[in-house]
Amino acid sequence: MLNKNVQDILNVQVEKEGYSSNLYLAMASWAESEGYSGISKWLYSQAEEEHKHMLKLLHYINDSGGNAIVPAFKKPPASYTDVKKMFEQVYAHEQHITASINEIVAVTIAEKDYTTNHWVQWYVNEQIEEEKNARTILDKLKLLGKESLYIFDRDIVGLRTAESATNAEAT
Ligand SMILES: [Fe+2]
Ligand SMILES: [Fe+2]
Repeated sequence: MLNKNVQDILNVQVEKEGYSSNLYLAMASWAESEGYSGISKWLYSQAEEEHKHMLKLLHYINDSGGNAIVPAFKKPPASYTDVKKMFEQVYAHEQHITASINEIVAVTIAEKDYTTNHWVQWYVNEQIEEEKNARTILDKLKLLGKESLYIFDRDIVGLRTAESATNAEAT
């Protein structure tokens, strides 16, 4: 039976991963409506991945004898100032998620739940990737003037390939 405090913090993470998915979906929709087809594709894929992160948590909680709760989600912003600022938000959001995963690790140690501690390491590693990907995109965006966004928009999906392969392996 899953420890109550561990179950509670995992359910908090269900909400965070679900919100991440909706946030990236909102960003994808905005980018698509602005004509950034490559950027929107990257974000739609990212939204799908976050949805998988949420499902992985739901299954783990239920498989461990707990009750996974599907929460209400707050509405993500519908529009963004520009592409660079949007990806700065992505990076900040991923840093926030990393902090919440670290909180889970701390609770598993406090509760001596070494099974969940082992299981949640997947998310610890995933967050290294997520932060790295966001930083890579920001680095590229810093090199560009606004007129070069066309080329960035064309190339961003190529940046995704290696990362998605890593994710597929890890899942
Ligand atoms: Fe995630
Ligand atoms: Fe993420």
